Order: sequence, then structure tokens, then C-alpha cells
Amino acid sequence: MKVAVITGASRGIGESIARALAKDGYALALGARSVDRLKKIAQELAQEHGVEVFYHHLDVSKPESVEEFSKKVLDRFGDVDVVVANAGLGHFGRLEGLTEEQFHEMIEVNILGVWRTIKAFLQSLKRTGGVALVVTSDVSARFIPYGGGYVSTKWAARALVRTFQIENPDVRFFELRPGAVDTYFAGSKPGKPKEQGYLKPEEIAEAVRCLLRLPKDVRVEEFMLRSIYQKPEY
Ligand SMILES: NC(=O)c1ccc[n+]([C@@H]2O[C@H](COP(=O)([O-])OP(=O)(O)OC[C@H]3O[C@@H](n4cnc5c(N)ncnc54)[C@H](OP(=O)(O)O)[C@@H]3O)[C@@H](O)[C@H]2O)c1
Repeated sequence: MKVAVITGASRGIGESIARALAKDGYALALGARSVDRLKKIAQELAQEHGVEVFYHHLDVSKPESVEEFSKKVLDRFGDVDVVVANAGLGHFGRLEGLTEEQFHEMIEVNILGVWRTIKAFLQSLKRTGGVALVVTSDVSARFIPYGGGYVSTKWAARALVRTFQIENPDVRFFELRPGAVDTYFAGSKPGKPKEQGYLKPEEIAEAVRCLLRLPKDVRVEEFMLRSIYQKPEY
């Protein structure tokens, strides 16, 4: 039985990845702040797929929370095979209009949260020869107006992925770079028209499922996917 840890699993892309991996028989460890949502998802997945699902409160912006979460996961499962560092958020607007609080929140979650999550499971992933899959964004290597704070945190997350990879060749680091996805991201609501350029979170999850099925000697260093309705900008 393979074990996958997913951060930000309470909705959006993280929830969809949890649902997709449960179909493939993974035991799951789900983390987010919305524990009620996690509980509901865990119950559904255990019932539908007969997989073991552990969930626990996780705030990746707090080192002690990541420590507690990872300890509980490792106590429960021993080791883990896949860690999906997905938790993230975005504040948008002109750079000079971002507040200190907004910028700090993105740094804490999108950069330090990824670093803390991987750090906490690194030794376990080394033991299993596992995969750390980090959800960055198509903007982790390009620039857009009105997103400079968010974009800079995703460039930084990309730098973390690359450096972790160089320093730990025995773990495979996958950078997943979705374009626009129809979730609750940045205060929006699911149900946005496809023609506006959004992929569905289930489509991202299906891609993750395919990537994780590749043989163990394949390292998917980065994988970018966007809707055909999203303008191809690089
Ligand atoms: N949607 C897009 O267009 C898009 C495109 C490219 C990349 N992404 C990236 O995809 C990832 C998931 O975003 P999404 O689109 O699924 O957004 P979403 O629907 O808003 O979901 C975000 C998830 O992150 C969790 N989260 C936020 N802050 C957290 C914290 N401090 N600690 C733990 N969990 C936290 C949320 O759970 P709680 O609130 O329950 O903690 C939620 O489960 C993010 O990294 C985002 O940057 C999104």
C-alpha cells in the first residue's frame, strides 16, 4: 500500500488529487485548516474506495503545525511514498497596492509552507525513494501584471524544488505548473466557464495520477498544463 500526503486537501486542486489517488488505492494523509471539510472528504473516500484516510489540522504557515502534522502522519503510516505540497493562496493587484499582511501571508504559505512540508517528510521520502510533487503554477517561470507578489512566491517555490532535487538525488521532485484552474483560488468560486480559460481541478488531478504511474526511474522535473482557452503566453 502506497501512502500519499496532500496539503491543502480541503478543496480545489488538493481535494481533487486526494479523490484521484484514492481511486488508485493510495492510503491518504490529508492536511488543511478546514478540518470539517477534511473529515467529510475522508469519510467519502474511505467508503467509496475502501482506502485508509487520515486527516489532521494543518497550517503550513506555522512551523509547529507542520511538525505536529508530519509526526502524526509518520506515526500512523511509518513512511510515505508521495508528498503533494499543494497548499497555497494568491493576492492580486498592482504591486504597490499589496499590503504587508498579504505579501507576508503568500511568503509564509507558498514559499515557507512548501519548504517546511518537504523538510518534514524528506527523510521518509529518501527511505521510500518517493516523490515530492509541488504545485507551483504556470507563472513560476513567467511574469504577469497585477500578480507580482504571487508570481514571485511561485518563482521561489520553483527554486526550492530545484535545489531540493540537486541536494537529494534519491528523491524525485516534480514541479506541477497548472494554468488557470476553476477552484476557490483568490476568492473566486468554482463554476467559471471553461471558455474563460479554466481547467477543472479534476483534470489536474488526472494528470497527477498519470505522472505518479510512471516508472520509478522517470523524474518529471516539471509539468505545465493549461486550457486551450488560456492564451499561450510564456
Ligand atoms: N486555481 C488556479 O488558477 C491555480 C493555478 C495555478 C496554481 N494554483 C495553485 O494550486 C494550489 C491549490 O490552489 P487551488 O486553486 O486549489 O485553491 P483553493 O481552492 O483556494 O484551495 C486552496 C487550498 O489550500 C489550503 N490552504 C490555504 N492556506 C493554507 C495554510 N496556511 N495551511 C494549510 N492549507 C492551506 C486551503 O485549505 P484551508 O483553507 O482549509 O486551510 C485549500 O485546501 C495553490 O498552491 C495555488 O497557488 C492554482
